[in-house]
Amino acid sequence: MSDTFSPAKPAETLPFGETVTSVEHWTDQLFSFRVTRPNSLRFRSGEFVMIGLPGDTGKPILRAYSIAAPIWDEELEFYSIKVPDGPLTSRLQNIQIGDQVIVRPKPTGTLVLDALLPGKRLFLIATGTGIAPFASIIRDPDTYAAYDEIILAHTCRTNAELSYGYQLRKRTLADPLVGEDAANKLKHYATTTREASVHEGRITDLMRDGTFYADLGIGPLGTEDRVMICGSMALNQDVKDICAAAGLDEGSNSRPGQFVVEKAFVGEELV
Ligand code: A2P
Repeated sequence: MSDTFSPAKPAETLPFGETVTSVEHWTDQLFSFRVTRPNSLRFRSGEFVMIGLPGDTGKPILRAYSIAAPIWDEELEFYSIKVPDGPLTSRLQNIQIGDQVIVRPKPTGTLVLDALLPGKRLFLIATGTGIAPFASIIRDPDTYAAYDEIILAHTCRTNAELSYGYQLRKRTLADPLVGEDAANKLKHYATTTREASVHEGRITDLMRDGTFYADLGIGPLGTEDRVMICGSMALNQDVKDICAAAGLDEGSNSRPGQFVVEKAFVGEELV
């Protein structure tokens, strides 16, 4: 495992190579970047693709990343943590504009509107980089057509880790396509667990004790609501339990339901 970045091969020799157009470091552990979009790539908001870099042995190192750009964007965006010893992110965090990143144009995933039955409110519950698929969903006009209210909840340890979400809200409100809908229908609720902030505590605790709903001035989760969950295994399980307690059933692409869940692809697990 190397800490030094070996530049990717040029586009013409790198299969599925896309060019980095911007990189932003949010904290020493979080960064986002944008790449050119493969011509053949069509995706549904909330889906993920395999992206990566060429490995030393010639075999690419690929990991699943949710697409954090809207479906209509000319570029793709990804939001990632930096794992110091991670085979991919230890190198990916050093990418620069003009470098090449492998993007396999085969999107998939369950955090899609199609996997949910029609409903009134859509709750998007994320921790950490789990907000990435929702960056796509909240900039899709179909989301606003399908729901009266969209509530994006984001829990991180610190305020700095919430920055990407705050900027996402700003970008969404300023968006010519969905900005007006978002101003009317989108609520952003950000909480921290290890630092003081406007809303403190794990989203799960704030849902269970009612603080979340009271803060937003909305009614508690019910069977008319739909939920998308994206975070760690533990968060996913806890929110699933909350959904089940509210009488909601899990959905999938083949059998739409009342909530859907996907692990945030933040680690360096082999997939
Ligand atoms: P906490 O600080 O109480 O562990 P991480 O940085 O470990 O990936 O976690 C991201 C955020 O998700 C943290 O704020 C963390 O809170 C929170 N979190 C972790 N597990 C759960 C869970 N089971 N339910 C709700 N929030 C969780």
